[in-house]
Amino acid sequence: MQSLPGFRDFVPKECAARNYIFHRWREVARRYGFVEWDGPVLEPTDLYTKKSGPEIVTQLFNFTDKGEREVAMRPELTPTLARVVAAHEREFKKPLKWFSIPQCFRYEKQQRGRLREHYQFNADIIGESALEADVELIALCVDLLRAFGFTAEDVVVRISDREFWIDFLRAQNVPEEKWEEVLQAIDKSEREPREKTAARLGSLAEPTFKILDGTGTSEKLEQVVAALRNRGLTEFVKIDLGIVRGLAYYSGVVFEAFDRGGKLRALAGGGRYDNLIQQLSDGAVSLPAIGFAMGDVVLGELIAEQPAAKAKMEEAIAAQQNLDIYVVIAKEERRADALAQIQALRDRGYRVDFPLTPAKVGKQFQTAEQLGARIAILFGDEWPQVKLKDLRTGEQSLLPHEGLSARFAALLSSPA
Ligand code: HAM
Repeated sequence: MQSLPGFRDFVPKECAARNYIFHRWREVARRYGFVEWDGPVLEPTDLYTKKSGPEIVTQLFNFTDKGEREVAMRPELTPTLARVVAAHEREFKKPLKWFSIPQCFRYEKQQRGRLREHYQFNADIIGESALEADVELIALCVDLLRAFGFTAEDVVVRISDREFWIDFLRAQNVPEEKWEEVLQAIDKSEREPREKTAARLGSLAEPTFKILDGTGTSEKLEQVVAALRNRGLTEFVKIDLGIVRGLAYYSGVVFEAFDRGGKLRALAGGGRYDNLIQQLSDGAVSLPAIGFAMGDVVLGELIAEQPAAKAKMEEAIAAQQNLDIYVVIAKEERRADALAQIQALRDRGYRVDFPLTPAKVGKQFQTAEQLGARIAILFGDEWPQVKLKDLRTGEQSLLPHEGLSARFAALLSSPA
């Protein structure tokens, strides 16, 4: 039996990598004053068909439940956030700075960087229309990437503004019901042959390509970059009107993060969606909002490709997983004494392991090394003393078995 296409099993090595990513995400989000929240994995299908746009709707993992409800696994978190905020609006002081790490599901064609499930770090600021909120989120996006060890040579956040394109569509007399289709075509243009985009755009192709090939900007985007300069982050960002985003609800500044080499799909994407909460609550609540999401799949690929980021991850995982102490039971008569010590050491918070069944001493030391133990304690002929071996230096000593843990505090804190 295999897993379904596009779904992953997380064996310990992969689970450790996932936890590392989640840990870094949480750490940086908290540095920025964001608080964590979550919503349901299953939602009414309507929540997405209303405003997420045609692309997401074709990718829905949806079905009819046993109560005849049309439901969908969440493909993204933003509509849920809009629903939750609209429902509880009065309970919270604005602006809200919320983050979440949902698992999302999209029935996409499986390819590099695209699976049918992925985790996304989401950060959103609700109830603030000032450009400072846009800047704060772009800065957070950059700092998340920096936390994994990436520099401006590895990654870039491309910033754009949907309002620029809306103005363009108005100037070109494109009827409003066609806007989304044109924006989708522009969004796809980078990943498609020009002729295909040209066919989609018709008479708009020429003026659109002119903008895409140029170095256009807007006052608003210049302000964003200037504000990022105050934070020393400008080398990480680039104004690029080619970004319009595939989701339909964006209304203002939009951005996407990429690897500099341009080999991978987007690491993260987001933008302002000032009308979504109002639209989903049928006008009951109106709040400006901006947010983005960073996926674990492409990020994991980039970490694996960048030696410094990879080493940083491996070091963090080893520090998290390695044992402090492996207890070697050289004489089975000492097992009960060893277990009493193991319990006392674990109670004190040390990471301790031991052989569950009798094994040769050499084999036990091998296991200790494999598990990355710092120290081995041998319970054997030396009793009532025990033998201590520092597995990094090879240094050995004999100690009375009482008061062992005090000795460990010093040993384990000394540098390797
Ligand atoms: P999105 O651009 O659809 O935005 O997804 C954000 C990120 O999730 C992408 O840049 C990508 O790294 C990752 N991602 C998306 N789909 C897949 C997939 N099938 N497999 C692997 N990774 C994937 C949103 O979802 C918006 N709701 C973000 C947002 C939050 N906007 C405002 N607040």
